[in-house]
Amino acid sequence: MSDAEQFILTLDGVGKEYGRGRHRVTAVQPLDLRVDADVELGVIGESGSGKSTLARMMVGLETPSSGTIACNGRPLREWLSTRASRLEYRRRVQYVAQDTTSFDPRQTFYDAVSVPLRLLRGVRSEREIRSRLDAIADELSLDPALYSRQPHQVSGGQRQRFALARSLVVEPQLLICDEVVSALDVSVQGAVLNLIKRHVAEHHMGLIFVAHGLPAVTFISSNLMVMRQGEVVERGTVADVVTRPRHPYTQELLAAYASSSQKEGGRQ
Ligand SMILES: Nc1ncnc2c1ncn2[C@@H]1O[C@H](COP(=O)(O)OP(=O)(O)O)[C@@H](O)[C@H]1O
Ligand SMILES: [Mg+2]
Repeated sequence: MSDAEQFILTLDGVGKEYGRGRHRVTAVQPLDLRVDADVELGVIGESGSGKSTLARMMVGLETPSSGTIACNGRPLREWLSTRASRLEYRRRVQYVAQDTTSFDPRQTFYDAVSVPLRLLRGVRSEREIRSRLDAIADELSLDPALYSRQPHQVSGGQRQRFALARSLVVEPQLLICDEVVSALDVSVQGAVLNLIKRHVAEHHMGLIFVAHGLPAVTFISSNLMVMRQGEVVERGTVADVVTRPRHPYTQELLAAYASSSQKEGGRQ
């Protein structure tokens, strides 16, 4: 299949439960969702509301307890069933995890970023790899001196930015970011958000941006989904949700946001 082909990810009644009996937890209540390469969807909700579980199911890191996920009509389970189609899926959909434990502890960052370039984008020349890495590292304020480091040799914020670099170089059709700026210094958060926004626009990628608060999400996405205790309590365009929140929980979130930005304003 070519890159030019339309990209559609559909979730039909997709839900997830963990544990059994008394220990059963509904992480995500069955939901429907359609994501295409034009989508910019922000997903917010307090900690434990099921955001990461939802994102992880979209890339096969968790298996749904109910429902079906399909990409261009083909079930995700089939996409993931052979090495070749698994790579094809990873070329289309990249997930930047909330924690950065997905790095191989012995691998240098240079290797971690060059592997997907080679494997998923077929970039062979070392010079080309280096120049693509330099370009993205520069935008993410990552010093090239860090390329030869291993994940434990840098700060959490630097690791998070390398995780982002590793996915951005793939230029996927859908980028799923899970709390990617939460661990960053406020001083670089804005720059990283700008970078994501620009990449998404330039490469016509779809974006799902998971965060626990509103500010980053309203900056980066045009649509919003609010989750609470595994349930989608509200969805719509950012403009609609912000001006006419229907669910009391969304109203609370907005009120908290308004009062915190007022305080910020007061300090200036
Ligand atoms: N691997 C797991 N085993 C058991 N429970 C889990 C697991 N992962 C998540 N959960 C539970 O599922 C719920 C949703 O978690 P999560 O998707 O991480 O929420 P969020 O990303 O919104 O903070 C929480 O109650 C969490 O404790
Ligand atoms: Mg999470």
